[in-house]
Amino acid sequence: MAERFQTQTDQHKILAQFPEEFPVIVGDKTRLEQVFYNLLSNAIKYSPAGGEIRISGQIRSEHIIICIQDKGMGISQDDVPHVFDRFYRADEAAKNTQGAGLGLYLSRAIIEAHKGRIWVEPRPDAGARVCFSLLREKGFTNNLLNEETS
Ligand SMILES: Nc1ncnc2c1ncn2[C@@H]1O[C@H](COP(=O)(O)OP(=O)(O)OP(=O)(O)O)[C@@H](O)[C@H]1O
Ligand SMILES: [Mg+2]
Repeated sequence: MAERFQTQTDQHKILAQFPEEFPVIVGDKTRLEQVFYNLLSNAIKYSPAGGEIRISGQIRSEHIIICIQDKGMGISQDDVPHVFDRFYRADEAAKNTQGAGLGLYLSRAIIEAHKGRIWVEPRPDAGARVCFSLLREKGFTNNLLNEETS
C-alpha cells in the first residue's frame, strides 16, 4: 500500500513501520483498503509542502492499532470533534483543497462495522495523526495484513 501511494507523489516519503509478526485481521479487504486509501490520500492532500508520511502498526492484546501521520497543516482542536461528520471540511481545507468531506465519515462507518474504533490525535504544528483499531483474530500470528497492505 505504501508503495502504491508512493507512485502518486514525489513530494512525500511514505514509510511503513510494522512489527515483524503482525496479527491476522479478518475483515472485508476491499473496504479496509478503502480506509487506507482515504487516510493516505488525506495525508498527501493536506501536506502540500510534502514531508514524511508514516504508517505504523502496534499490537495490543485484544486489538491492533494502525496510525497514519503526516507533516502537513494538521487538524485544529476545534475541528477534531467534527472531522468524522458527513460533509464536514475544516475552513482551511475548504479554502485550499477539493473534497466532499466524506472520506473520514466512510472510514469510520467501515471501521465501526468491523467493531473497531477510529480517532484523530491532534498534534498542533506537527501535522495530523489518524489512528484506527481492529480486533485481533486470536490464535493467528502470520503476516497476512503486512503482505496485503504493504
Ligand atoms: N491528514 C489531515 N490533515 C489535515 N486535515 C485533515 C486531514 N485529514 C482530514 N482532515 C480534515 O478533515 C476533513 C474531513 O476529511 P475527509 O477525508 O472526510 O474529507 P475530505 O478530504 O475533505 O473530502 P473527501 O475525502 O470526501 O474527498 C477535511 O476536509 C480536513 O479539514
Ligand atoms: Mg479525504
